[in-house]
Amino acid sequence: MALLEVKNLKVYYPIKGGILGRTVGYVKAVDDVSFTIEPGQTVGLVGESGSGKSTTGKAILGLAKLAGGSIHFNGEDITRYIGKNRSDYRKSVQMIFQDVYSSLNPRKRVRDIIAEPLRNFENLTKAEEQKRVDELLTIVGMGSEAAVKYPFEFSGGQRQRIGVARAIALKPKLIVADEPVSALDLSVQAQVLNYLKDVQEELKLAYLFVSHDLGVVRHMCETLAIMHNSRFVEFGSREDIYNNARHIYTRRLIAAIPDTNPDLRTQNAENRARLSAEYEAEYSKYYGENGRVYDLKEISGTHHVAMP
Ligand SMILES: Nc1ncnc2c1ncn2[C@@H]1O[C@H](COP(=O)(O)OP(=O)(O)O)[C@@H](O)[C@H]1O
Ligand SMILES: [Mg+2]
Repeated sequence: MALLEVKNLKVYYPIKGGILGRTVGYVKAVDDVSFTIEPGQTVGLVGESGSGKSTTGKAILGLAKLAGGSIHFNGEDITRYIGKNRSDYRKSVQMIFQDVYSSLNPRKRVRDIIAEPLRNFENLTKAEEQKRVDELLTIVGMGSEAAVKYPFEFSGGQRQRIGVARAIALKPKLIVADEPVSALDLSVQAQVLNYLKDVQEELKLAYLFVSHDLGVVRHMCETLAIMHNSRFVEFGSREDIYNNARHIYTRRLIAAIPDTNPDLRTQNAENRARLSAEYEAEYSKYYGENGRVYDLKEISGTHHVAMP
């Protein structure tokens, strides 16, 4: 059984208008997406800003009202917990954010920040709690001396580690990591990605890894969903997406991966320009009326592409 099964998920936000604040329409933030995550697996969710990635993550955490579809976790329908603080589920699924600083209380010491979920859900003695916090700090590669400091005393990469320590405190099965390294310097990104992988192995965690950059998720994800205009344009294995992308939008995202090899810079810039031109010219072949993304069609056992 899949750990997470998302079926035909729809999340629509109302648009209010007029002096009466009536609902005059809807923003279809997520419009009919389906996918599964197996235990211990990493699925990448990639697309430009505004494509509906964070809303998909929020729906999985039970933080968004569904306009349609269903979400099952370990076979259990979670939609009835939406808006409720249902403890088992709230323990099993956690979120890591891009802007970790705003989610760490600046007036609290690291010990209290990491212990907060433990205090909410588990009855530990002071000594047990201290031991757990120290263990969690070790898992994310920090010493126990960090426990008595405040968030501002750390660098961005270290703060992201504190956020991860808090997210794994209750031994979740799934973490929705929403752009977890996007705010960090390139040199720190790889480091943070590596310990996210280590933590995954140690805890047998599954990730939904959200990013706008296909380069960042390349070594993290076995499976990728490419999202555009609130829908999936392509879904496949790492090989399908990086070596055999079929949708023009996916191909453009691949061309946009920042260059690490200076020798290829000119060639890649040309490639990017060519794909941008092709995107403009061929848009209508890949999108239906009003830019709607077609339904996914299976082109191999693992690979699905939105085509007419
Ligand atoms: N709380 C909200 N109310 C109204 N519209 C929203 C809300 N959150 C997101 N949206 C809209 O839904 C769409 C998808 O947003 P989001 O899921 O944040 O995309 P992404 O994470 O890919 O950048 C955007 O058009 C955004 O403006
Ligand atoms: Mg987002």
